[in-house]
Amino acid sequence: MKDMTKHSYSAVALVAIGLMAFAGCSMAPGQSNLGGSTQGGSSISGGGQGGLGLGSQGGTTESNAGSPAAGSPTAGDASTGANLTAGNSQGGDLVGGTLAGGIPTGGTLIGGIPTGGTLAGGIPTGGTRTGGASAGGSIAGGVIAGGSIAGGAKTGGTTTAGTIAGGSTAGGTKTGGTTTVGGATTSSSAPIVSCTSYTPPSAATYKIPTPMTPVDTQATQLVSQMAVTDQINILSGDHTTNPYATAGVAFRSLGVASLNIPNYPMRDGPRGMRNIMPGDVSTCFAVAEARAASFDLDLEYQVGNLQGREMRAAKNELALAPVINTLRHPRWARAQETYGEDPVLLGEMGAAYVRGMQQPGGCAACPKHYVLNDTDNNRMQANPNVDMQTLHENYSRPFEITVKKGDPACIMAAYNMVNGTHCTENKSVLGDILRTQWGWGGFVVSDWSAAQAGHGAASMNAGLDLEMPVPSAFTTLSGDLSAGTLTSAALTASATRVMNARTKFKDLDATYVASTASFSLAGAQEAVTLAERTELEGAVLLKNDGILPLGSLATTIGSGSPNAKIIAIVGPDNNLPVAPTATQNSQKNFVSGLGDRGSSQVVAPHAVSYFQGLQAHAGGLTIKQSADSSAAAGADVVIIPVSMAHEDEGEGYGGGADRQNMNLTTIHPIHWTTTRPAAFIQSVAAINPNVIVLLNVGSAVIVEDWMTYAKAIIQTFYPGQEGGTALAALLFGDSNFSGKLPFTVGQNESDYPQFQNSGTAAATIDYYHGYRLFEKNAKPVRYWFGYGMSYTTYTYSNLQVLCSNSTIPATGALNVQVTVQNTGKVAGDEVVELYIGYPNSKAPKRPVKELKAFTRVTLAPGASQNVQLSIPATDTAYWDATNNKWTVESVAHTVLVGPSADPTKLLSATFTIQ
Ligand code: BGC
Repeated sequence: MKDMTKHSYSAVALVAIGLMAFAGCSMAPGQSNLGGSTQGGSSISGGGQGGLGLGSQGGTTESNAGSPAAGSPTAGDASTGANLTAGNSQGGDLVGGTLAGGIPTGGTLIGGIPTGGTLAGGIPTGGTRTGGASAGGSIAGGVIAGGSIAGGAKTGGTTTAGTIAGGSTAGGTKTGGTTTVGGATTSSSAPIVSCTSYTPPSAATYKIPTPMTPVDTQATQLVSQMAVTDQINILSGDHTTNPYATAGVAFRSLGVASLNIPNYPMRDGPRGMRNIMPGDVSTCFAVAEARAASFDLDLEYQVGNLQGREMRAAKNELALAPVINTLRHPRWARAQETYGEDPVLLGEMGAAYVRGMQQPGGCAACPKHYVLNDTDNNRMQANPNVDMQTLHENYSRPFEITVKKGDPACIMAAYNMVNGTHCTENKSVLGDILRTQWGWGGFVVSDWSAAQAGHGAASMNAGLDLEMPVPSAFTTLSGDLSAGTLTSAALTASATRVMNARTKFKDLDATYVASTASFSLAGAQEAVTLAERTELEGAVLLKNDGILPLGSLATTIGSGSPNAKIIAIVGPDNNLPVAPTATQNSQKNFVSGLGDRGSSQVVAPHAVSYFQGLQAHAGGLTIKQSADSSAAAGADVVIIPVSMAHEDEGEGYGGGADRQNMNLTTIHPIHWTTTRPAAFIQSVAAINPNVIVLLNVGSAVIVEDWMTYAKAIIQTFYPGQEGGTALAALLFGDSNFSGKLPFTVGQNESDYPQFQNSGTAAATIDYYHGYRLFEKNAKPVRYWFGYGMSYTTYTYSNLQVLCSNSTIPATGALNVQVTVQNTGKVAGDEVVELYIGYPNSKAPKRPVKELKAFTRVTLAPGASQNVQLSIPATDTAYWDATNNKWTVESVAHTVLVGPSADPTKLLSATFTIQ
């Protein structure tokens, strides 16, 4: 059997969204003391003894190299050079010290040497673990000698004679020892956390790294030294140079030379850092829609983190990403840039990306496009008409989750209007929701040229802080001050918000300012491994009629193509993906297979095509290719990649547009000219029935017309620079499929919501979309949201509500447990999904059910786990538009747990909120 562990990954700590699920990883109440309060243990400080913030409040940094014994530093403390012997550290940071025999929980150990202790939920970086055990943590660049990690992840280091159970190893070396994926059946029938109050996950990856409040005193001081003209200047793009004539100018706002504040450089994401200047290069990941299919928050955290470090190394300070617009209709040109149709998946993914990006060494993030930006052809004029319940629950909700769980430095206001007012001057969506309701302290930037000319006071008073790429609305600010339509306090508040983001991320630090740009991370092994992982976890196996896997694994599992030796890749896209050169990158009709050529374009260091990936995979194979069907004859299997391009689904300039329809029978892909994929697939199947279709597409495609001619269908999305390597690993089963659809694939396009992508007429946004709409209208679904196959099978059983009498208070938590078993012959990662249903709701509108939590579990063949998930009761609330607040209904609800939104596949139980 192939080594199924090689490319199999699981989320760090498996604590996606408040879930404490995993092999014996039971979490004691009260472990997540983030924020810091004094707790037990002897309070020793200074005098060569201190360290570890014993008895101190969160947030202090101590650098005395003492040795506290048996103490308990708590929450957020950073200690430098200290040693902790036999103590307990909860949520603190130990930098450069030694931990012997202690039990740090949820903290970070940087460069230290833990010996014989237990680290639960923490992240040792660059350290050495000897003889201890870690549950749910991750080690980056460290060494494990004789120790073990359960449920964690290890990146880039060395493991000698250690054990990683249920975790993952990326890019490191492992010598001796055992790596176990899955593990023995574990059980736990007692609630892992209290049902009377909700305990958020305490792992370090869930900590907000750079809170925007309170405001830095350095920011306040700098703004107090600025003249009014300086304040106005820093709130606009650089208009001292023609932004359309000089590369890069359109992507920086102004500084203040007299105060040594440089210009503020920014770049787009989200599939990698956008390259503007000649020679710039950066890692190209699988697109966000693919990463959403992983349902893996650790993966998205790592992607955000690497992009943040690439940005910082390249001397860019604000990433215009992630996109967290709800995918209301699959035809949206920029569907590939977002995380699918579900507000919770969108928000959790967005928050993970932001937390990763905003770590020290990274940069500020700017989720976009707030709000309801989900058509492209008319994006500058679109005027969605939306009621407040629909807005709060389905469209601003991803931003709310990202704000609350990620605290981004910035949010981008969209081009479109909402209820008749442009987002850039819409007080209801900016001031009222972002600032008053959510209490968020970051700054709002306009989308490029989105602010309305001459509307300076209206925009700033509504909540816009920074106008890009040149002042058009903000040209009036000086006059607005004189006229009294704008106060100097409002201007100063905007200037302070922008400066606060810059000082929080240390953009003005002398060493950073003096440094030179580097692009070396793009080709580094760490980036290559992570980019490959985005596709390994993101590709979704939609159909497999016994043709996959290829090679020896097929013999092991008794299904597939064990003797596949000659593989043909045919059709117009047989050579994709390919990395465009910088020159090709600006040619809008160049087809790369890597995704859009609008603002999300990336110049990758290289791209591995599907052909190259298969050729490199293993000896003894013959890989053939042809642009027509000729290579199909005589092959054992035939692969047909079908790739969209910028002109099919691309941002609205340079030929980009929304998709014209969802099928493969009439127009798309445009570069296939007169050949239509549906007919081509059928004609190839007539030559050779062993057809595998790759959907190199950003969102849903209707498959009804041709699916019977394909034995396997894989939604590869735009797979990133390592796409070919990942595909080969998946086809041969070196890595098992685990991706699940982040959107619904219907059978008829007419069953999706109205897609009004022309004109300015107000378009009413219905409350229902995606699986909520298909379920409500009982329309036929081909592939449900959350669906994806693998080379193994899983069963779900014994769903239990872990709360006394299945009753919880409105301020409490719903804790559930389900047993998931791998009933097949190979290891795999299964995404477990939790939905809430509202059969007794009195709210004006409610979906039949909606996603509230998810996690990935890694299971060896035959292994089963009791997976526990936890959500706060407040997550069941609806938006009460009459009283303007989230309202929890004190009635009986249903909780549904299973592998997808398919109602026939979910277990259900009842619980009551009192
Ligand atoms: C896009 C934004 C992007 C901006 C700057 C706009 O056209 O809508 O997503 O950040 O350009 O490139």
